[in-house]
Amino acid sequence: MKKARIAVLVSGGGTNLQALIDAEKAGKLPHGVLALVVSNRADAYALVRANNAGIESAVLTRKDCGGQAGFEERLAALLEEKQIDLIILAGFMSILGADFTGRFAGRIINIHPSLIPSFCGKGFYGLKVHEAALNYGVKVTGATVHYVNEIPDGGQIILQKPVMIRPGDTPELLQRRVMEQAEWKLLPRAAELVCRKILKEKEG
Ligand code: GRF
Repeated sequence: MKKARIAVLVSGGGTNLQALIDAEKAGKLPHGVLALVVSNRADAYALVRANNAGIESAVLTRKDCGGQAGFEERLAALLEEKQIDLIILAGFMSILGADFTGRFAGRIINIHPSLIPSFCGKGFYGLKVHEAALNYGVKVTGATVHYVNEIPDGGQIILQKPVMIRPGDTPELLQRRVMEQAEWKLLPRAAELVCRKILKEKEG
């Protein structure tokens, strides 16, 4: 069976990457193959996960590339060289510019740890998202997988999953629950959906 080639872009611990690796191993990603992991940080633990799973990886930093434009140019060249069909941002802590997102339109997805359009956009990353949800006092939060366009967290929504907030929640507790109950389930499902769609489009 033909498979869409996936690159996962990471910056940190890579638990969402791990969820994708586990899903592929369990046969839950039949239309995709994890072909490449790219980190913009040399010390990201996600690189160890890629290595353990036997997935090719690369480190590309803005600094080494002489700034954002150079970084995006090198990244695009690498993705094209490896014939990547789908780019998954999984804890990738850098905003990609309009040139890049336009070049790969419909081919980039991101996981965000809230129910978009709440607690998203510029400045809402990591624990800040969960802090904002708790400060607002919402009773339900969750995670969203969406296409990536030039607006941070602004592309079309693919899948969402709600998570209940509990009395006594801290940002750390909530972050963990959103990952366990939503992110790690949602991302592999969305990846499979989009891989299937991309393959269909390729077949014409
Ligand atoms: C996740 O909460 C993800 O939604 C957000 O950054 C975090 C990354 O965690 N974009 P990990 O690196 O996948 O463990």
